[in-house]
Amino acid sequence: MRSTVGWQVEGSSSTLRRTPLIRRDLRPDDLAVRVDYCGVCHTDVHAVGARPGEGGRPLVPGHEFTGVVTETGPAVTRFTVGDAVAVGNIVDSCGECAMCRAGQENFCHAFPTLTYDGTDRHDGTPTLGGYSREYVVRDRFAHPLPAALDPAAAAPLLCAGITVWEPLSALGAGPGTRVAVAGLGGLGHLAVKIAVALGADTSVVSRSPDKADDARRLGARDLIVSTDPEQLADARDRFDIVIDTISAPHDLGPYLRLVAMDGTLSHLGHLGPVTVDTIDLLIGRKKLSSAGSGGSRSTAAMLDFCAEHGITADVEVLPSARVNEALDRLRRNDVRYRFVLDLSDLD
Ligand SMILES: NC(=O)c1ccc[n+]([C@@H]2O[C@H](COP(=O)([O-])OP(=O)(O)OC[C@H]3O[C@@H](n4cnc5c(N)ncnc54)[C@H](OP(=O)(O)O)[C@@H]3O)[C@@H](O)[C@H]2O)c1
Ligand SMILES: [Zn+2]
Ligand SMILES: [Zn+2]
Repeated sequence: MRSTVGWQVEGSSSTLRRTPLIRRDLRPDDLAVRVDYCGVCHTDVHAVGARPGEGGRPLVPGHEFTGVVTETGPAVTRFTVGDAVAVGNIVDSCGECAMCRAGQENFCHAFPTLTYDGTDRHDGTPTLGGYSREYVVRDRFAHPLPAALDPAAAAPLLCAGITVWEPLSALGAGPGTRVAVAGLGGLGHLAVKIAVALGADTSVVSRSPDKADDARRLGARDLIVSTDPEQLADARDRFDIVIDTISAPHDLGPYLRLVAMDGTLSHLGHLGPVTVDTIDLLIGRKKLSSAGSGGSRSTAAMLDFCAEHGITADVEVLPSARVNEALDRLRRNDVRYRFVLDLSDLD
């Protein structure tokens, strides 16, 4: 066993405390990674808020991080000590099903092992996330971090970035397509940057009119205010792809009405049951889709693309001791556009 330190939720409280943690000894195909930077995803806020209470399994959030390899198992060939790596929200999968064979481990039929709040598929222990100074990960689920990318600002690419990259590329965003991004937060601002770099004519749909200057700076044509019925009516049927990253449950109707004939609404934000009036799909033969995280192939493609186009997140880096402040401000929509924790204060 190896010992490290991290930020863990205590009992039923939503406060994270600095806690000693155990990591497994390296298996032959494992890497030990010194975690330098970990992004704060809204999923972490949901996970902390959903704690069942005392006696539940330990929760250490964090599923988009960058760091440096400090040790390798004997079967590891792709990495050596000192390599810069990035890890997202999947750290293992069955490796045998059709999805895994296609490089879509995120859709593994046996369900992928999540980076935190998951269960290790070999020893049954709960997985503890990247709000910690060390992580032990199977080599196939670590990604070389391109040298062109700043390690702090690149950390959010591993969840927020890949989650919007897969649907944007699968749905064919590019020159000649019109993309709307609903919700300008961590996922949303990367969706804008990526859609613009892919060549799509991109707009933002937001309840925050004060984000209009940022939307344009990120490369969007305009910002449609989602609380203004006239602006929504003007944008009716305008977009081939709507990427919905809104973090709260909401009615999909207004967003489906922005989709052009035969276009798609990709619902990535608040997961769970939704109510859809089929008339909103019927009129215009529209499609409702979703996606989450990414497979190893598309993660590698996304990192190459971001390195080539100079895309990283707009980040506010905080020492990890300020994690509770970061989560509070994220709950209040007070971040432009991603908090990243610097874990070096755990040494
Ligand atoms: N599918 C996946 O695999 C996956 C992966 C990562 C995250 N997620 C989920 O995606 C969502 C977004 O994550 P994030 O980290 O990007 O969060 P975030 O940074 O907090 O951004 C969410 C944005 O949604 C908008 N919003 C928030 N509350 C709203 C409300 N009540 N009504 C309307 N709009 C609201 C805000 O944008 P405006 O101010 O512009 O309106 C906010 O900036 C979360 O629910 C997260 O759990 C899913
Ligand atoms: Zn996430
Ligand atoms: Zn599988």
